[in-house]
Amino acid sequence: MKMKVGGKVIYFSTLSSTNDVARELALQGEAEGTVIVADEQTKGRGTKGRSWFSAASLGLYASIILRPKRAELSLLPLAMGLACREALEKTYALKVALKWPNDLIINNKKVGGLLLESSFSGTRPIYAIFGLGLNLNHEANDFPEELRDGAISLRQACGRKINREEILDQLWPKINFWYQAFLDGQDEMIINSFEVHHIFSKGEEIRINFKGQEIIGLFDGFSPDGALVLVTLQGRRQVTTGEVSLKK
Ligand code: BTN
Repeated sequence: MKMKVGGKVIYFSTLSSTNDVARELALQGEAEGTVIVADEQTKGRGTKGRSWFSAASLGLYASIILRPKRAELSLLPLAMGLACREALEKTYALKVALKWPNDLIINNKKVGGLLLESSFSGTRPIYAIFGLGLNLNHEANDFPEELRDGAISLRQACGRKINREEILDQLWPKINFWYQAFLDGQDEMIINSFEVHHIFSKGEEIRINFKGQEIIGLFDGFSPDGALVLVTLQGRRQVTTGEVSLKK
């Protein structure tokens, strides 16, 4: 039987981090596909050790337990980003771009982020937790000052109040589709689609902050395992992690 994300959703009013609760449940044997949703997180986590602003009822905070039967997970965040992007575009008729590896972007501002955390036994994944944070009903003043310039909510983008359940209902079929594509090894489709919807196009000059070091080059798409390919003066480079921006 094929796995179904969204068949079982467990709601919390407040918790530390949906990723942490999902991980605890995964360790206790909770089945693949179960989702944890919270109104508020007290210790919401972002990538690169950052926190994720998770005020009560303004955003969507959700984590999904996955048990992928595939050793190599590097394309999973890309597939999940594509799923979220499609769900948002379909529900709100907005143009939503992806910024490698895990940002959802509207009007050049961040509307959401993905946090994938996994645990392996040798080369075999035991579980992967896919966390999704989306800005739903924030007005500018709801964001902490340091986020205000770079963040946007769906409400700001489409001018109406956003219903969390509406977007969740649209998410499940898209996540099921793209997760299955990932499991089936449809890597080319994932990479090609990610390139099509990526915020920077091939040939654009970008900078990457990689472990404190700045690398500048021309963006040349993604490698088969999801690394960002950059043409620099020293030659082609593949970067597996880092913060990318356009070189101004
Ligand atoms: C990023 O830094 O862009 C990723 C943000 C991921 C935030 C979500 S909110 C639900 C889940 N629980 C967490 O603690 N983080 C993720």
